[in-house]
Amino acid sequence: MTSSLTGELKWWQSGIIYQIYPRSFQDDSGDGVGDLRGITRRLPYVASLGVKAVWLSPIFKSPMRDFGYDVADYCDIDPLFGTLADFDAFVAEAHRLDLKVMLDYVPNHSSSDHAWFQEALQGKGSEKRDWYVWRDPAEGGGLPNNWKSFFGGPAWTLDEASGQYYLHQFLPSQPDLNWRNPAVRQAMFDALRFWMRRGVDGFRVDVIWLLAEDDRYLDEPENPDWQPGQPEHWSLLHPYTQDQPETHEYIREMRAVLDEFDDRMMVGEIYLPVEQLLPYSGTEDARMVHLPFNFHLILMPWTAGDVRRFADSYDAASLAAGAWPNWVLGNHDQHRFRSRLGDAQYRVAQTLLLTLRGTPTVYYGDEIGMHDVEIPADRIVDPAALQQPDSPEAGRDPERTPMQWDAGVNAGFSADGTTPWLPIADDAATLNVAAQEGDPASDLNYFRALTRLRHEHPALIGGTYRSVDAPDDVFAFTRQDDSGTLTVLLNFGAQTHDLGDLAGGETLLSSLGDQPASGAALRPNEARILRA
Ligand code: GLC
Repeated sequence: MTSSLTGELKWWQSGIIYQIYPRSFQDDSGDGVGDLRGITRRLPYVASLGVKAVWLSPIFKSPMRDFGYDVADYCDIDPLFGTLADFDAFVAEAHRLDLKVMLDYVPNHSSSDHAWFQEALQGKGSEKRDWYVWRDPAEGGGLPNNWKSFFGGPAWTLDEASGQYYLHQFLPSQPDLNWRNPAVRQAMFDALRFWMRRGVDGFRVDVIWLLAEDDRYLDEPENPDWQPGQPEHWSLLHPYTQDQPETHEYIREMRAVLDEFDDRMMVGEIYLPVEQLLPYSGTEDARMVHLPFNFHLILMPWTAGDVRRFADSYDAASLAAGAWPNWVLGNHDQHRFRSRLGDAQYRVAQTLLLTLRGTPTVYYGDEIGMHDVEIPADRIVDPAALQQPDSPEAGRDPERTPMQWDAGVNAGFSADGTTPWLPIADDAATLNVAAQEGDPASDLNYFRALTRLRHEHPALIGGTYRSVDAPDDVFAFTRQDDSGTLTVLLNFGAQTHDLGDLAGGETLLSSLGDQPASGAALRPNEARILRA
């Protein structure tokens, strides 16, 4: 792969995706919840990070029982976030700043408040009944089978009026849409067209690997590795509710809808091993998602050896599959990576994310080093936490707290006198954008230095990836194209390592803020990028 290829790469291959959780970015209306006008006002900051696209978690009309992942109208904005006019203004400002706009599309389930489900509840004969997944009780009564919800408890809820159960892989207020019904697919595809006509460039597709279920409705087998205290959903394996052949078909149809428009993309939320993940890219004659989210950096043990083995096999498998790789360290469902990996490894991880081959996705606030915020019991609002009090890890509020803009009241997120929907971090007075803007050694400016390097050295974007042998605790790799070779050295441990020739070259960036001489030893927890 050469630098000339970099010129041919699409924006979603060469650029960085920045995820905004709209409730927590900027509250301009003064109700404690972020909104579109606030986001629009902060877009110059987003552009200053050197990212290419902004992905907004759901902003559609919703009763907010799962904070927007329960959509009551796929073609309207929730008043909490603003209006369609505010949305149009947001798109215009993003495009003016040369940022692409991505929305969060939630096709697996709607809200129970959606007019479609309300009509389905009218009874077995209703026109929309088959838009959702209904089953009679098991013989002898009770749940149709043992399927479980991701948020704990059964995946079925009884509709007393008809005596039938409906399926919900998440909350009972998030009934699963029946993707086997072509009318559902057409209606859901029309929602995509609606937003693309309004200028949307791409979509993050929620739980795309769950769209279809096996229609024999067999019980799922138990997971022998499950431990008490882990979420109940993990107590089963999921051969009948995940990754079904029909899902692949529906995604091919969805892709054809995107391809009706120029230069659009979708990234699918898919938690699967690489062998099952990469097929979601499709094949040359039957494309599927542009990027199947690769969450493995979040899920694997954080050691140089584990990360190297994974990166090697994933890079090779992506090339073999003709799939473009991508990398993620955080999102609104995962604890902040600074908290997971520790302060010492924070910049090592950030460097890795932005230098591996493939599209990085960055979660808002990670560029300033935000960490999880401990949420007092009376402020917990996430249904995954409230429904599963015995699985403390299940709660997602800690990683969803308001963006820390400055040292003022409410960290500049919300006006004085309002109560933000989630508490602000205790250290927001010192850990915030304003404080870091002026400090050349800050995490924010380290992030910008990394994105600047990507722009200056196309090898970091389109170049080949090759890992290099190094001592335990060190992960070293090169990125190479016609314009040259860069070496990335990452010390996952607290020892100094003399790497000899491997550390030869001009230091372009060190996470420790200085410019070590060619060949200088790699210090504890240091990340260094060199030009050979
Ligand atoms: C996805 C979202 C998560 C949501 C769930 C149900 O996993 O990322 O936040 O709760 O789907 O829509």
